[in-house]
Amino acid sequence: MTVFQFLLPRRDAAGLAVVCCLVAMLAGCATLSSGAVMDGAFVRSRPLVVAHRGASAVAPENTLVAYRLAIASGAAMAECDVHLSRDRVPVLMHDDTLERTTNGKGLVSELTAAELQKLDAGSWKGPTFKSERVPTLEEALALVRGKIRLIIEIKASGMASDVIDALKKQKVRPSDVTIFSFDARAIWGIARVEPRLPTVLLWRDVPADRPGRQDLLDKALTARAQGIGVSFRSIDVRFVRMAHARGLHVFVFTVNVEDDMRRLIQWGVDAVITDRPKVALELLE
Ligand code: G3P
Ligand code: CA
Repeated sequence: MTVFQFLLPRRDAAGLAVVCCLVAMLAGCATLSSGAVMDGAFVRSRPLVVAHRGASAVAPENTLVAYRLAIASGAAMAECDVHLSRDRVPVLMHDDTLERTTNGKGLVSELTAAELQKLDAGSWKGPTFKSERVPTLEEALALVRGKIRLIIEIKASGMASDVIDALKKQKVRPSDVTIFSFDARAIWGIARVEPRLPTVLLWRDVPADRPGRQDLLDKALTARAQGIGVSFRSIDVRFVRMAHARGLHVFVFTVNVEDDMRRLIQWGVDAVITDRPKVALELLE
């Protein structure tokens, strides 16, 4: 999928892929643009590969080295998680507590950004990472600028405006980031303040029944999201088709095993979120 296709509503992107396919067929070649591929009788876009928490299989998650390695892997996007420090600075951290990934203790929200940045955020992964710190969102944005698009998952409630402020300070183009959240109010709040920012509503387990699935897709559309991000374990091809029929992109997390990646790609998901971006990219080759 190209950047251009990603920004189009799904139905328009599908139309574009069909036009590209016809042009390529006339030219007598099966591979279309860098994004669209011919797959038997179907035309679909290559899914985006998203480096989950950076290249988190090989580096401490949500640290700058993880994003440097994500860029080096060739992934189209990298995902990060953000919490708010005591002085309202968005920082990269998955958990709301410090113990698992730093040498600190307590809640992220109890320390200022300066205090958080004194912590060791790398040693838990290995001694070579001991100099890694807790990055601010602004530092991460500056690092990835022009190199990889960043997915920002809002983890705490009431921080949408702080995230938008950080994007403005770093003069980020809306097309260079995507906002994720499990909180539909946060997604709706982003769409209200900055409708040009692409957003994706997250949901862990997709309901098994059709009415439950329609309700979930309604939630995403009501929040004005362009996509739905779900656990890959809970979906099937019917859900992908339902979401696409409603004009929503489908992101799946967190897919680390090749057989799962292969199946999801065949089902036509739009983005595969993985700790192992190199593996997913090799598969797509
Ligand atoms: O990208 C979505 C995925 O990251 C959500 O789960 O727990 O890894 O933040 P989690
Ligand atoms: Ca996340």
